[in-house]
Amino acid sequence: MNPNKELWEKGDFTEIAAFMRQSGEAMVDSIGITPRQRALDLGCGDGTTAVPLARKGAYVVGVDIARNLVEAGNIRAVEAGLDRLKFQEGDACNLEGIADHSFDLALSVFGAMFAPKPFDVAREMVRVTKPGGRIVMGNWIPNDPTFVSQVLKISSAFTPPPPEGFVSPMTWGVESHIIERFGQAGVAAEKISMVKDTYYFASPDKSPTEFIELFEKFYGPTMNAVDAAQKSGNADELHNQLVALAEAQNKSTAGTLIPATFIRVTVSL
Ligand SMILES: C[S@@+](CC[C@H](N)C(=O)[O-])C[C@H]1O[C@@H](n2cnc3c(N)ncnc32)[C@H](O)[C@@H]1O
Repeated sequence: MNPNKELWEKGDFTEIAAFMRQSGEAMVDSIGITPRQRALDLGCGDGTTAVPLARKGAYVVGVDIARNLVEAGNIRAVEAGLDRLKFQEGDACNLEGIADHSFDLALSVFGAMFAPKPFDVAREMVRVTKPGGRIVMGNWIPNDPTFVSQVLKISSAFTPPPPEGFVSPMTWGVESHIIERFGQAGVAAEKISMVKDTYYFASPDKSPTEFIELFEKFYGPTMNAVDAAQKSGNADELHNQLVALAEAQNKSTAGTLIPATFIRVTVSL
């Protein structure tokens, strides 16, 4: 079994994605997709950005490594009556079966960053995008003080060290790595823009503690930390640290509204 696939199929990201719908729509609004353009959403989950892309009239292929999320996405597409939106299983490291220059836009919001071979990911995203097209990535930033970066940092402190040679997904949040990876794929640095942006995890009625409980039950990286912490007797400590983080960063008095900073990368081909 591929450990990358196992990690994401172990959980159920739809439970977390439910908090991300508004920011997914805002992200798509800001991209400026036009009807009939062809878009790839890589590491699409159950369609937080793929569904709004298709609602704008684009023909969208969502590719994700997790079979359960592909199934959930296809159900959402049918329920939304979006027959120009299809989800399929695939690996961002090797988009076999997808022809060169297929898409006007290749989008990956906190998706392809989790694939284990970043140079292959950059090469594949460039390969499947048309000349004149765009690649847009949203990547979490290592050691950023905001929510997701800190959840991953806390989770990894409770998890055994990764195998030798493992490249942290968070390196996709570092400008020099981004330029090097797309550079090896043949893209000049002047074609790459990088700006900081904010995503919001929002729920009108779920508290920050309930939100953290969803991470512990359904978010692969945190589930692994919980498993390891239970074995070492540190599960309460992990839970308390995560809840303290979510409460400290919550901006809502009724439910949950937690901002998280990311780096938004736009590559013009
Ligand atoms: C944090 S979730 C984000 C999902 C979605 N983009 C969203 O914003 O709701 C990360 C997603 O990347 C997918 N993923 C991880 N590694 C992948 C790979 N190698 N190829 C394709 N998808 C991958 C996971 O299955 C998961 O759906």
